[in-house]
Amino acid sequence: MEKRPAKTEALKLIKQFGSPLFVVYAATIAENIRKYRKAFNSFAGGFSLCYSVKTNSSPGLLSVFRKHKVLAEVCSLTDLTAAFKAGFTGEQIIFDGLVKTEEELQLAIKHDISLINVESLHEAQKLAAVADKLKRKVKVGIRLSSPSSRVGLKSLLGISYDRFGVSRHSGAAKEVAEFILSCKYLQLVGLHCHTGSNQKSARSYLTGIDELVTFAAFLRDEYDVTISVINLGGGFGLPRITAYTVPDLAANAVKHLFGSSVEHEHTPMPFTDMVTTIMNYLQEKLVENKLPLPILMLEPGRSLIGNTCHLLTTIVETKKTDHNNWMIIDAGTNLMPVLTVYSEFHDIVVFSDSRKKQATSLAGPLLYSSDTIVKNRMLTEGQIGDVVMICDVGAYFNCQANQFLYPRAATVLIDQKPRLMQRRETVDDLFNRDII
Ligand SMILES: Cc1ncc(COP(=O)(O)O)c(C=O)c1O
Repeated sequence: MEKRPAKTEALKLIKQFGSPLFVVYAATIAENIRKYRKAFNSFAGGFSLCYSVKTNSSPGLLSVFRKHKVLAEVCSLTDLTAAFKAGFTGEQIIFDGLVKTEEELQLAIKHDISLINVESLHEAQKLAAVADKLKRKVKVGIRLSSPSSRVGLKSLLGISYDRFGVSRHSGAAKEVAEFILSCKYLQLVGLHCHTGSNQKSARSYLTGIDELVTFAAFLRDEYDVTISVINLGGGFGLPRITAYTVPDLAANAVKHLFGSSVEHEHTPMPFTDMVTTIMNYLQEKLVENKLPLPILMLEPGRSLIGNTCHLLTTIVETKKTDHNNWMIIDAGTNLMPVLTVYSEFHDIVVFSDSRKKQATSLAGPLLYSSDTIVKNRMLTEGQIGDVVMICDVGAYFNCQANQFLYPRAATVLIDQKPRLMQRRETVDDLFNRDII
């Protein structure tokens, strides 16, 4: 079972390392990795697990993944640098990303990165030019685009996935494949597809499999190419992180209007059923198309790191207004991306001496209206100085934290015992880049 600090441990950690504080459990990372391997190792073509570095890229965390022989999936120079700092070698890294600069491609090739997934013809041309210049062979995959299936806040805001990868339907993927096959130094070995995040059903994975297998069969028929790596991206959700659907958001808005408390049950996460459905469907489609079994590669982020980390904060102010019981904590949307705060339901624990629960609104310290973390949630009553824990914040929190009004928090890794893994940012750090 994933670990969360109990009251005594939380207070001790805050006393030792200060507040606010990200607390990461190495044992939960190990358990998440084991769960994936146990589920997918039976895939007859072989299974390769990568960690999506951008989800939380602290080198201290990455080195935990490296020790467990998980590969690093990077998508920028920043990610690549973090992976090198954590001790990954080129062969233990794969390179994704919508845009890769010439500088990044050069570095990747010089370090013998094991696979580069390209996302456009222009990028393939750029990669070929760099490989030609360096006279180095590069293993290449093509990322195919896929529409996002989730109807949540993101789709309501018009956020869509279809700029990622190349479309099979428009003929763009064929054009990219033909180009790669014409290049002396590029070797087409893989196909890739990432169909969305926080998935709690296998549906979008099956759409991805249809795309990948159909294209692999086409490449075999047209060009006699064998695809040896099928990468289904990331996307698995976690049991205790629930993405709001559009009806959830509408219901919340009505509750806010009438001042009633907002409660949610977490949507169950049928991990084993999803894995069985995905593996069976993939094998079935490969057999149907008479394709040899490729290595199945996955590059999850959230489901490997999300539940390993919790944010400990301290109540710094309380206020009763006409419509809200406010608890103001010392961590706001500078440490929690606004979109995530408004689109995901996370557990929140107040460590206080009270047993009374009341409808509470929680906000950060920022002089900024969108710094509301939750409105009208039933939480234990807390006083100034009590500790509040926002749970399961390992994915996309610390890596997207910014310095708006306050420096960033420290992170503690709990392995055998707690150790400071990333020191607290100082105000001086914030002005290091300024030239007066
Ligand atoms: C290409 C790619 N791979 C992997 C991931 C990780 O996804 P998740 O955190 O949902 O597992 C992402 C996330 O956006 C992605 O874009």
